[in-house]
Amino acid sequence: MLITTNSKADYYIQLEDAYNAHNYHPLPVVIERGEGVFVWDTDNKQYYDCLSAYSAVNQGHCHPRLIDALTEQAKKLTLTSRAFHNNLLGEYAEFICNYFGYDRVLPMNTGVEGGETAIKLCRKWGYEIKGIEQNKAKIIFVEHNFWGRTLAAISTSSDEGSYSNFGPFTPGFEIIPYNDLPALEKALRDKNIAGFMLEPIQGEAGVIVPDDGYLKAAYELCKKNNVLLIADEVQTGIGRTGKLLACDYESVKPDILILGKALGGGVLPVSAVLSSHEVMLTIKPGQHGSTFGGNPLACAVAMEALKIITDEKLSENAFKMGQIFRSRLSAIDSPLIETVRGKGLLNAAVIKPYGKGKTAYNICLALKDNGLLAKQTHDHIIRFAPPLVINEDQVHACCDIIEKTIKEEGC
Ligand SMILES: Cc1ncc(COP(=O)(O)O)c(C=O)c1O
Repeated sequence: MLITTNSKADYYIQLEDAYNAHNYHPLPVVIERGEGVFVWDTDNKQYYDCLSAYSAVNQGHCHPRLIDALTEQAKKLTLTSRAFHNNLLGEYAEFICNYFGYDRVLPMNTGVEGGETAIKLCRKWGYEIKGIEQNKAKIIFVEHNFWGRTLAAISTSSDEGSYSNFGPFTPGFEIIPYNDLPALEKALRDKNIAGFMLEPIQGEAGVIVPDDGYLKAAYELCKKNNVLLIADEVQTGIGRTGKLLACDYESVKPDILILGKALGGGVLPVSAVLSSHEVMLTIKPGQHGSTFGGNPLACAVAMEALKIITDEKLSENAFKMGQIFRSRLSAIDSPLIETVRGKGLLNAAVIKPYGKGKTAYNICLALKDNGLLAKQTHDHIIRFAPPLVINEDQVHACCDIIEKTIKEEGC
């Protein structure tokens, strides 16, 4: 294809546009390089990255320890498949189980595969341990959940854009309102319920934080009804919300824990499902797997990614920096901002529509021009989730840019 433009950025954008499926609508910025909290575009303009690849880059861009772990292991062995053992999988499994306090792990690659794995495990447990009649098992989900784009994931979705014209859908799922304990209590009366799957804070929905005590009470209701609580911490986990896991805020230990994104430190897709012997051993050889799951490269990177979280106290840093961030944003005196919410460094500002129907997207464009990258979710919410290595000066610099942009937008 002949592309005529003098701008490097336009060239790359047009090339993507010409040959890619149009399943995304990115901001018009072409990133070439990243380090820590910063990225640079093809004209060498520097930006604060306040998306962190949807919380996958918690350790910061190209963390030297992660790049070393990746390259050292890449020189030795990258993939064996699970047809053979490799010398890192056992070490990694022991490490991650001890790190999160679980008996066993099932390694996968992407977050959505983690969700699929958790559902399969839960159904198997439902039939073989709980004694649900064949093909009758149900799993409860909540409205506005987001756990990916596979057919099972969209079969649990309440977002029309996600599921329209992709049916028929996977049966066996029930959707109830989020943060609604009476609805959960009612749904749990069905004896065929095997599990309840939710995000402790809903990320893609717009950083929806449930009431204090919701998770704990939901867990107790599940226990009372012999139902597994499945926590999707793909986005909230690994320090993002100011604790290692968002469930830690309520001292809840999910029966099945799903991790992804920052487990690979933004370097590789690595996901994991953690659970008990009882749940995990319902799956036998040949009943589930993945060519790449548990590959030695992923094992080396994931161990280093978790060690960095501990060594650099990134959960604690996220907690402190998040408090500063929210108090600065809440203090901005503008009718444009309806509310600011979040925990740790998973935050959102809800934007009121302004000037000729302009929305959060327009503010994201203006933020970009001022040197900060963030992404709207829905029309009216901007999520701010910088890498957890951000320091206090940098948090203030980000807030200065946001404040200036909001004022410049004329309100
Ligand atoms: C909570 C949650 N679960 C699962 C996923 C899916 O992860 P992936 O895109 O790696 O499949 C996402 C992605 O945004 C997510 O936010």
